[in-house]
This record gives sequence, structure tokens and C-alpha cells, in this order.
Amino acid sequence: MRTGLRVLLVAVAIAGSASFVLPAIVLPALAQKSAVDAAKRLQKARETTVSLAERLRSELAAAIKNGGVVGAMGLCQTISPDLVTSAADEFGFEVGRTALRLRNPENAPDEWERKVLLQFQAQIGAASDASKVEFSEIVTTAEGDRLFRYMKPIMTGDTCLSCHGSDLKPDVKSEITRYYPEDKATGFKLGELRGAFSLVQLIEE
Ligand code: HEC
Repeated sequence: MRTGLRVLLVAVAIAGSASFVLPAIVLPALAQKSAVDAAKRLQKARETTVSLAERLRSELAAAIKNGGVVGAMGLCQTISPDLVTSAADEFGFEVGRTALRLRNPENAPDEWERKVLLQFQAQIGAASDASKVEFSEIVTTAEGDRLFRYMKPIMTGDTCLSCHGSDLKPDVKSEITRYYPEDKATGFKLGELRGAFSLVQLIEE
């Protein structure tokens, strides 16, 4: 893909003999190509978060059924690195999870993520269909790299309440406080925004 573009640019430069201005005829073709790439990238980001959310839910439910809530405790943590690696291998995305109210302070949002989380909260509070809520943007870093960033809400489902709800069992509560003394991620209600997946991909040009 990258080479293709290069070859095209070189060919144009030669045809234009010393002129690097792209002939009008090539410009729409390039614009169209990047539009297709952007659409594909967004589609992949959507697929990734849908499958991550589904795996998070089903694997936690299975683990709770087998080993109880305390036994499943490590899963909401270990599942992420595992999922992250597979999404990275498959699509080249870096995947993280973040939230406004955190269990693990290491998942704290950066400024961009925080703005998007607040926007999600407002949208979902205004009764938008949460499954349709998402945000993506291409941002340029201080070093000049262009990044595709994508966020998708993670909603509080039934499975989540035993560890993120209001009524935690004493053994669950003490296990959480032991590992996460600064925990702020309880008191969530069914259907409330719990946090978000956050994806980043370097755009190579
Ligand atoms: C068995 C207990 C348990 C269950 C059930 C559980 N979680 Fe968690 N959750 C945790 C723990 C522990 C962490 C901290 C993980 C870490 O260290 O990164 C966490 C962290 C998170 C985070 C990352 C942000 C933060 O606060 O650090 C999100 C988002 C999250 N959980 C969403 C969910 C959702 C959605 C569900 C239901 C599908 C769910 N969790 C079910 C225990 C649980």
C-alpha cells in the first residue's frame, strides 16, 4: 500500500519533469484511496471493540460460574493484555481500557480520552443508543506522527455488577481493596457507562 503510493508519486514526478505538483487527474485518485483506507481502518476498529466486549463479558461470566466472583477477579485485569496482544497482531492497533472512575490508576485517561469519555457520558445520559456511540479522530503528535484514535463505550452489564456494582459481597470487597486501595470503580448501575476501549494506530505514509 505504502509502496504503491510511492511508485505513483515517483511516476508523477517524472511525468511532470521536475515539477512536484500533482496533476489534477491524480489528486482525486489519491483522495479516494485514503478515504477507502480510513473506512477500512474504522471498520477494523469497530470489529475489534465489538469482539473485545463480547469476550470480556462471556469469559468473565464463565469464570464466575466456575470459580465464584473472587476466583474471577484477576480476569478483568489479565484479559486485557491478552486481548490487546491479539488485536495488535491482527490489526496493528494498540488497545487499552480507560474510565472516568477507575479501579486501577494505571488505566487513567489522557486528556484526549477524558474529553471523549465526558462526551460519551453526556450522549448516553441523553439516551442515545449506546451501541451506536463511538468517536474517532486523526491526531498529530508533537513529533509530527499522525495517529488514528478510536474510542468505544464499555457499558455496565449484569456480569459486571458483582465487582463494579453497589452491593459487593464482603469477600469481593476486601479482595478489591487489597489490590486496589484507591478503587473508585464501584457503585455502577446496570446500563451505565463503565468506561471505554481506546485504540491507537500509527498512520504510515
Ligand atoms: C470478578 C470481578 C470483576 C468483574 C466481574 C468485572 N470486573 Fe472490571 N475490573 C475488575 C478489576 C480487578 C479491574 C482492574 C483491572 C486492572 O488492574 O487493570 C477491573 C477494571 C475494569 C476496567 C478498566 C478501568 C479501571 O477501572 O481500571 C473496565 C473498563 C472494566 N473493568 C469494565 C468491566 C465490565 C464492563 C465488566 C462486565 C462485563 C467487568 N468489568 C466485570 C474486576 C472485575
